Amino acid sequence: MAVVVTTSALPIELADFLPAGTQVVRAEAGNLAAAVAGADALICLPRDPITAEVLHGAPRLRIVANTAVGTDNVDVAAATALGIAVTNTPDVLTEATADFAFALILAAARRLGEGERLVRSGQWQGWALDLLLGVDLAGATLGIIGLGRIGNAVARRGLGFGMSIVHAGGRPDVALAGRARAVELPELLATSDVVSIHSPLTPATRGLIDAAALARMKPTAILVNTARGPIVDEAALAEALAAGRLFGAGLDVFAAEPAIHPGLVACDRAILAPHLGSATTSVRTQMATLSAAAVRSVLAGERPAHLVDPSVWPRRRGAP
Ligand code: DGY
Repeated sequence: MAVVVTTSALPIELADFLPAGTQVVRAEAGNLAAAVAGADALICLPRDPITAEVLHGAPRLRIVANTAVGTDNVDVAAATALGIAVTNTPDVLTEATADFAFALILAAARRLGEGERLVRSGQWQGWALDLLLGVDLAGATLGIIGLGRIGNAVARRGLGFGMSIVHAGGRPDVALAGRARAVELPELLATSDVVSIHSPLTPATRGLIDAAALARMKPTAILVNTARGPIVDEAALAEALAAGRLFGAGLDVFAAEPAIHPGLVACDRAILAPHLGSATTSVRTQMATLSAAAVRSVLAGERPAHLVDPSVWPRRRGAP
């Protein structure tokens, strides 16, 4: 009988996807290694570190279905070496995450966090010409770091707001073709009014937006990160915001979630969100469905959609 371990409750009935008799086990918090030791399949979340050690301790494991598009929490190389398939959940979350990135852009540009806090504090004195003045998006330049699926979707929204688009890394999709200019990162940082990060976390992007990168940005600019926290040096960002060397920031991801750098918590110009990019009911249901379908495929010996490293498939564990 196959054993499927999940690290959280899912917004679907997992049993509907699995052959009768499959045992579904919920891993206890902090006890993942013990839970996967006898598992055939694992459904996990971006917060779960699926290390080489965890994988080596799971001799029957055939699939890690990561319920996210990012897979930096999984040691994919170790999984592939062991013949364990790793899948992710791209596409279904593209538009929701782009919406959320744009929500952060608007909130930072128009100082929505400060305005909300002012109203709730009871200190608001009424309309004033100089109250919480923001910056305009129409006519501004939106710099996308990592023009992949989500980056393209954010860029399209930027065009709708009358922004011009530059990008470093990635490429325009069909809808954006001819409407985004490729530049090197230093030029993007120096010329953009809004910089939005959409790269995966890799050794090359870890710490990419450090103090030197922030120093290149305009003091009137906004930094938005809906990708992964460790791409930004949070201490350097907090310092730049506190010193008025940036207009604002919108952050949905953090280096050590759920902890947040105290300098960012203290900063009025930082809009902070608890990793909500893909958080709509329909998208989270589709993400869970993709993970469940991937597990069902692998347990049936069929190639799943969205293999992160397709080279694993011919030499997968239990291959005929
Ligand atoms: C992802 O998919 O990688 C997000 O961070 C969570 O939706």
